[in-house]
Amino acid sequence: METIEQNKMLTQVGKGTPMGELMRRYWQPFAAADEIKDKWTLRVRLLGENLVLFKDRLGKLGLIAENCPHRRASFAHGIPTERGIRCPYHGWEYSHKGECLNQPNELDNPGFREKVTTDGYPVQELGGLLFAYMGPQPQPLLPRLDGFVHPGTIRMLGRSLLPINWLQIMENSLDPVHTEWLHGHHYEFLKEQEGVKVAISTHHKKIDFKEFEYGMTKHRLLEGHSEDGDDWKIGHPIVFPNTLAVGNGDEAARYFSFQIRVPVDDENTLHLWYNAYVPPQGMKVPTHLLEKVHQYTVPFIDANGEYIVDNVDGQDIMAWISQGTIADRTSENLGATDRGVAMYRRMLKREMKKVEDGLDPIAVVRDPLKNERIDLPNEKKKHHNSDGFASFMLRTHAKYSPIAKDLVKVFEGENHPGIQEAQAIQAELSKL
Ligand code: FES
Ligand SMILES: [Fe+2]
Repeated sequence: METIEQNKMLTQVGKGTPMGELMRRYWQPFAAADEIKDKWTLRVRLLGENLVLFKDRLGKLGLIAENCPHRRASFAHGIPTERGIRCPYHGWEYSHKGECLNQPNELDNPGFREKVTTDGYPVQELGGLLFAYMGPQPQPLLPRLDGFVHPGTIRMLGRSLLPINWLQIMENSLDPVHTEWLHGHHYEFLKEQEGVKVAISTHHKKIDFKEFEYGMTKHRLLEGHSEDGDDWKIGHPIVFPNTLAVGNGDEAARYFSFQIRVPVDDENTLHLWYNAYVPPQGMKVPTHLLEKVHQYTVPFIDANGEYIVDNVDGQDIMAWISQGTIADRTSENLGATDRGVAMYRRMLKREMKKVEDGLDPIAVVRDPLKNERIDLPNEKKKHHNSDGFASFMLRTHAKYSPIAKDLVKVFEGENHPGIQEAQAIQAELSKL
């Protein structure tokens, strides 16, 4: 349980708040690089700030506070220049760093000009995603996590804008037991109402959590599984502060899978699913699969306004939203199975304090040698893959991907029934 003050401290992400300052020590992804390919500007809301992503005439990207410091017109309609962007209203020009470069029609007055600086943040691309750094300089390195830099992968990016605070989503990643119920018994109950008997839930015998260089790992021992299994021995990581990396697949289907919970503001979160699949050795993969990050929206409400709970991610989203816009942690009662959640909160508090003391928090990367490629500890033989690649994929957000059927083909062969299933899902999607 937290006090009102502690709950605010843990959840608020605005500039100047303790968590807002912690979040600003990390590069945050906010769009796919493709999204600005055919445009000059894109409006972005990130950590409670309204921003505009822009491309200058030389193709360099910038991210600037949306409203012009002159009389507040939006840079979303700005005119790109060689050094930055001009406001559409009176043409004042700004650099990528937010410095005012000139003020046409004004007498040149450097003192006045310098006063009208605004916020401008660095942007970098990695693995087809755009990341922003909104903290103080010197900026750290953008972490080159394994799945973002592995060569030759088939990449896709799902997204949902969820009307809730980011923390309850992250806390779910420190809560292994929920899978037994939400994705197990709750799903069995849904099927029971359709007259179908399924038994998919597996009991957790033990859970554990460990701190490592980039955050925490979570471990589970399921009934009937061995302590030598990857789920218990290796587990999977929660990369601080807001990324889950879950499972690497095995020899049959190797992949990297991230869920990044990007705070749009205190009450909205951009949920990104970034998956990178490693094609089987020697396979000739159609080039269209490799040349871009395939994007899709993950729906969570159906045509009748009901939650979509026939897949793992939809079940999670239902539970998260049902906790309230910002979960009220003053009236919760944590049990022994919540100790991962408690440990994560303790670490967040400890890291906020470090930032307050002027130190780098955990998982801030500044050493280029360490950053050539960061290989995360991650289970390979994962329990939830036991019924095959296609079956698992089509039980998750990935079923909405425009390349779901291609992935089934790549990993299961031309004749797998999952191909028809994936096609049917795409047809259903158009009705939402
Ligand atoms: S409002 Fe931007 S130049 Fe006037
Ligand atoms: Fe879940």
